[in-house]
Amino acid sequence: MADATPYTLIDGRKISSDIKKEITDKVLERRQLNKKVPHLAIILVGDDGASQTYVDHKVKACKEVGFHYTMMRFADTISEDKLMKHIDQVNRDEDVDGFIVQLPLPQHISVERITEKIRPDKDVDGFTNRNFGSIVSKNPLLLPATPYGVMELLKRYNIETEGKNCVVVGASRLVGAPLSMMLVEEGRATVTVCHKYTKDLASFTRQADILVVAVGKPGIVTADMVKQGAVVIDVGTTRVEGAQYKNGYALKGDVEFNSVAPKASFITPVPGGVGPMTIASLLLNTLRAAELRNP
Ligand code: GUN
Repeated sequence: MADATPYTLIDGRKISSDIKKEITDKVLERRQLNKKVPHLAIILVGDDGASQTYVDHKVKACKEVGFHYTMMRFADTISEDKLMKHIDQVNRDEDVDGFIVQLPLPQHISVERITEKIRPDKDVDGFTNRNFGSIVSKNPLLLPATPYGVMELLKRYNIETEGKNCVVVGASRLVGAPLSMMLVEEGRATVTVCHKYTKDLASFTRQADILVVAVGKPGIVTADMVKQGAVVIDVGTTRVEGAQYKNGYALKGDVEFNSVAPKASFITPVPGGVGPMTIASLLLNTLRAAELRNP
């Protein structure tokens, strides 16, 4: 067996905190120049516990960097039409630079219809088809937040992507699909996308110089599936319930961390890896939206 590599733990909390400091300075500068302070609105439907926690983190982040924010809460019985009307209002609100609709939504509401109602230049999650397509344009508008966060982690740890074999496990519309396009476009990598129909997943993951896993199945990637020295990015964050955990649950990644880490050159932990970067990207996008509207 090959020797264990002294791997580098990719610290998403630290990078996210660095980005927040950079944004705080830019907000101060805007204030000094009498320019508009970025304003993020957050729409939350229902009372899902995990969503509430995520939204609390987003509000806290806005406060940290000095953004204005508005929380809009609706009961899970709200009709799709009513929610569409509220989105229309926020689209037209001149003071709001960017907004998000926290997912998941109740069953009776179509995520696609709601997402597509968001004005692309206020879509700071980067969820709309316009922003998805904008990845392959020369001048992207607002990048999908989680993939943007992964690209920032790679950049800030000086991890070279050009010409590298990247394998992305998971082809979701919100993470795997946009991230694979960003790795090709901006990263100049050779990218393989694996998904639930992939036969012999391990034969692909073993080829990866950079392995990104975003499927939401705790521990699906084990040590035998990873090449010695690979960079491993774990986007999975599944809440696993259990009485032994503080708060009654723990966040689990898609990668079996303890066995995979000794083979990796760089690896993200869960929690504390990609998770905090999604919020950092949301703030970067909100600042960009404000700058585009009010240079
Ligand atoms: N639910 C889980 N993650 C996210 C996210 O990044 N944005 C939104 N809007 N909803 C989510």
